[in-house]
Amino acid sequence: MQPRIAASLLSADFARLAEAAAAVPSSDWLHVDVMDNHFVPNLTIGLPVVQALRASTDLPLDCHLMIDDPDRWAPPYAEEAGAHNVTVHAEAAADPVMIARDLRAAGALAGLAIKPGTPLEPYLELLRSYDTLLVMTVEPGFGGQEFIAGVLPKVREARRRVESGHLTLAIEVDGGINTDTILAAAEAGADVFVAGSAVYHADDPDRAVGELRELARKAS
Ligand code: DX5
Ligand code: ZN
Repeated sequence: MQPRIAASLLSADFARLAEAAAAVPSSDWLHVDVMDNHFVPNLTIGLPVVQALRASTDLPLDCHLMIDDPDRWAPPYAEEAGAHNVTVHAEAAADPVMIARDLRAAGALAGLAIKPGTPLEPYLELLRSYDTLLVMTVEPGFGGQEFIAGVLPKVREARRRVESGHLTLAIEVDGGINTDTILAAAEAGADVFVAGSAVYHADDPDRAVGELRELARKAS
């Protein structure tokens, strides 16, 4: 299992997104948090900005849509913004299997996210349609929050299902990932690690990416 790091632009300077992307050349994915001020109490960027970003970096875009009605709004991130992975929230999706079909038809990976309080069990069957499971390790909406270790049993359970061949998924964790917490997340079975403040508040963001990946590699 090769751990991957997804640097999260939420902690970067929003007036300099292209520079922020260029600051983490060794990041595996570039994590883009789309928030609509309805699904979460915060507002960030939408499709036009993600399209502009696509033209400004070669890094694979990992779009995390914290929005209502992803059935309607998610596919264009794959179709029109060329995202590598598009993740929608299970709590907001009306027909998650159809969303996954649309995303894959547009050539993207399909991701399903669950909030800390959302159980994994009801989604195990439909996760067969997905490529990525994003287990939120903070309440979605803001960067710089404290890692919630209590969600790790969900990561462990997902990893068990992958190891036993029931599911084929990248298991992504998002929120509060730093040099203190990445070990526990990696040991639980995560293999994609989103990091915002741990990367962009570091003196050398790209070095921070490398350090996080190295720690995750040791644990897994
Ligand atoms: C929070 C976002 C995260 C955020 C994580 O809702 O989904 O991607 O950037 O930030 P840190 O790593 O600072 O917790
Ligand atoms: Zn995110």
